[in-house]
Amino acid sequence: MDTLESAVHELWARRGELSADDADARATVTAAIELLDSGRARVAEVDPAGEVVVHEWLREAILLLFLVSRVTTTELGPFEFADKIPLKRDYAAQGVRVVPGASARWGAFLEAGVILMPSYVNIGAHVGADTLVDTWATVGSCAQVGARVHLSGGVGVGGVLEPPNAVPVVVEDDALVGSRSMLTEGARVGQGAVLGAGTILTGSMPVIEAATGEQISRGRVPAWCVAVGASRRREFPGGEFFLPCVLVLRHLEVGERHDKAQLNQILRATGVVP
Ligand SMILES: CC(C)(COP(=O)(O)OP(=O)(O)OC[C@H]1O[C@@H](n2cnc3c(N)ncnc32)[C@H](O)[C@@H]1OP(=O)(O)O)[C@@H](O)C(=O)NCCC(=O)NCCS
Repeated sequence: MDTLESAVHELWARRGELSADDADARATVTAAIELLDSGRARVAEVDPAGEVVVHEWLREAILLLFLVSRVTTTELGPFEFADKIPLKRDYAAQGVRVVPGASARWGAFLEAGVILMPSYVNIGAHVGADTLVDTWATVGSCAQVGARVHLSGGVGVGGVLEPPNAVPVVVEDDALVGSRSMLTEGARVGQGAVLGAGTILTGSMPVIEAATGEQISRGRVPAWCVAVGASRRREFPGGEFFLPCVLVLRHLEVGERHDKAQLNQILRATGVVP
């Protein structure tokens, strides 16, 4: 993998010269994207100290893929698409259930047991085992979603390619993200956290402990808690306004499932045997 990493860095350094005619460059980039697609590599991960480590060369490989690929038109019944990146394939062999209307791009990884309701998973995203990506949820490029997560209907998980931001969004194992919530700019949802419907969490959003009023982080919801979108008073020269924040209402026991986070196991079974 080290040789591939150096080859990608080398291509990145001379990206101004690359085109879709460059077969060698395309072969290198394809090899890197295959690693992402199969889950053998990932753009970012949480290290043992709890910090997010970004493997920049893989993000470079994704951007290079656009440079070395041509637009191809595909047709499906009355629909026509023109894109540079193919869709992911062979779901059943990977133990993944994909409902019509869902699509994931090649280079996204979906671990066994994932269910995609009509939703979208972009390139570089990594979705852990048994996670449910509910209707109209979108998982942005390079977003890292853990195992047994529920991204509820309409949740927007931001990507990092456009606009380029340093750290991808991370949703850790067992979290529930309530309907229509938005997570962007390196926001992080801790393991087992329950985020109320409609919560906006950006990397700079204050996260406040309701019991004490203390701001415990910016953009990071702690593990095993229930948090909701709220607002805080702010003084400006022009007057007093209310800006959004995220409020931690209460803490859960480690491993505790909130009753509103229970899911119907009948619906969750993928029914796909890899
Ligand atoms: C956050 C949530 C888990 C809280 O549930 P709970 O622990 O039972 O707590 P309560 O419903 O008693 O709410 C606690 C307080 O938070 C407020 N609150 C609840 N949900 C909220 C939300 N999404 N945003 C802001 N405030 C919220 C309530 O008004 C209540 O305040 P109050 O005590 O002043 O009345 C739940 O309201 C929620 O949003 N669940 C996600 C639902 C969802 O999206 N499901 C997906 C299904 S596909």
